[in-house]
Amino acid sequence: MNNEKSVSQHYTHGSLESAILGALKEAGKNPNNLVHADLAGIDEFHIGGRQSTMDLAAQIDLPHGARVLDIGCGIGGASRFFALERGWKIDGIDLTPEYVDVAGRLSRRLGLGDAVSYREASATALPFPDATFNGAYMLHVGMNIPDKKAVFTEVRRVLKPGGVFAIYDVMRESDGEFAYPVPWSSEPATNAIDTAANYTKLLTAAGFKVEKERSRRDFAMEFFRQLRERMAEVQAKGSPQPPGLPILMGASAPQKVANMMGLLQRGVISPTEIISRVA
Ligand SMILES: C[S@@+](CC[C@H](N)C(=O)[O-])C[C@H]1O[C@@H](n2cnc3c(N)ncnc32)[C@H](O)[C@@H]1O
Repeated sequence: MNNEKSVSQHYTHGSLESAILGALKEAGKNPNNLVHADLAGIDEFHIGGRQSTMDLAAQIDLPHGARVLDIGCGIGGASRFFALERGWKIDGIDLTPEYVDVAGRLSRRLGLGDAVSYREASATALPFPDATFNGAYMLHVGMNIPDKKAVFTEVRRVLKPGGVFAIYDVMRESDGEFAYPVPWSSEPATNAIDTAANYTKLLTAAGFKVEKERSRRDFAMEFFRQLRERMAEVQAKGSPQPPGLPILMGASAPQKVANMMGLLQRGVISPTEIISRVA
C-alpha cells in the first residue's frame, strides 16, 4: 500500500457522521438544529483545538472575502471557524474521502453555503490554477507527508503574489525514540514528522520568506493539564464526558494521546507554528 492510502486508512472511521451526531444527541444537542459551538470539542483535530486555531488566526492578516486554502482540512472545523469569524471563502482539500464528506455535511448543517467547499485531493498535487488564493493554512498535516518540498512548491504555485502561508504542525524537537500509535500515525511508515529547521529550509527553497516561528510546547502542556482537570471533574460528578476527539481517534485514542503527551514531555516533539509569505 502506498503512503497516501495508508494515511487515509489511518483516519477512516467508517461511520463518522453518525458517531458524531449520536454523541452530540447524547450530550443534549439537536443534530437538526446545530450551532457552531456545539461542534467545538470534535471539530478541530490538532493540539489545543479551537484556542490554537484562534491563536494562529491572530497572526494571519487577511481581509473579509479573502480566498483561502485549507490543506488537509479534516472534518472542516478550522474552515468553519474562519468562514464564520473572519468571512474568508475557504476551499478545503483532504486525502481522506470520509473526512471530505463529513466536512461538507457538517457545514451544510450550519448553513454555511458556498462560504466553504471541500474536495478530495493530495496536498502534493493541488487541483487549482496558479495564483488562486490570498492565503493558505495547514494544521497538523505535514506529519503525514514525506515530500514536503512538493507541498510547499504546490502551495507557492496556487498563492497570489504576497500570499500568506500559515503552518501549525507537530515537529521534531530532538532525536528521542518515538512511540506508536500517535494521533496521526500508527506506524513509522506514515509518520513523516520533521524539524522546524527543515520546514524553513524547504519553504525558503520553494519561494517563501519565513516571517515567524513559535514553539507551542508550553501552551500544549497547559492545554492538556486543563483538559485532564476538566475530565476528572466530569468523572467525579458521574456525568458522561462531552463529545471530543476520541470519536475521531477510535478505540486506541487513550494510547495515542498518552504516547503523544509522553513525547511532548520528553521534549521529542512540539507543536510549532511557522508563518511565511510568498517572497
Ligand atoms: C490530524 S488531521 C488534521 C485535520 C485538520 N487540519 C484539523 O486540524 O482538524 C490530519 C489530516 O491531514 C490529512 N492528510 C494527510 N496527508 C495528506 C495529504 N498528503 N494531502 C491531503 N491531506 C492529507 C488527513 O487525511 C487528515 O484529515
